[in-house]
Amino acid sequence: MDIKEYIRGIPDFPKPGILFYDISTLLSHADAWQVAMGRMARIIGAYQPDVLVGIESRGFLVAAPLALKLGCGFVMARKAGKLPGGTISHSYDLEYGSDTIEIQDDAIHPGQRVVILDDLLATGGTLSAAIQLCKKVGGDVVGTSALIELTFLNGRDKLDAPFEALISYDE
Ligand code: PRP
Ligand code: MG
Repeated sequence: MDIKEYIRGIPDFPKPGILFYDISTLLSHADAWQVAMGRMARIIGAYQPDVLVGIESRGFLVAAPLALKLGCGFVMARKAGKLPGGTISHSYDLEYGSDTIEIQDDAIHPGQRVVILDDLLATGGTLSAAIQLCKKVGGDVVGTSALIELTFLNGRDKLDAPFEALISYDE
């Protein structure tokens, strides 16, 4: 099965000139989603993780089912101000302005094997911030992954951990 057939490219979203890769059509197709998660489970399982970290919000869609499938814990990396209790945060630059993600300071035990997941790697700013956060709380970031990599943006060059995507687009 070619998973790309279930992902649609929507031109000029969220702004003119951007081609948005929409995974809604993959999520809503029961068989294709099963196959995609099965393939991701093989990639992620090889890292023998204790915990999967999902990045809000679309990263949750990938990380939570994989954690259940692999018998790992699931930890949320959330946008600023959403998590209660002690948190640590990391800010990163966007094309215009900046964004901040947070994790609870006791969410990962020191030395736990962590794999961080998102739906898509573009410039790498988001995933790179999540790697810094997980390392700050003592996690051993053994891998990172996404359903989709936009290779032409060279996001993986920013990542201080192994990265593997299920599918990639070079334009
Ligand atoms: C999108 C996508 C990744 C990130 C990739 O998230 O889901 O998380 O951008 O971009 P980058 O590699 O350039 O950092 P977005 O912030 O749009 O929010 P969402 O997941 O809540 O939809
Ligand atoms: Mg996102």
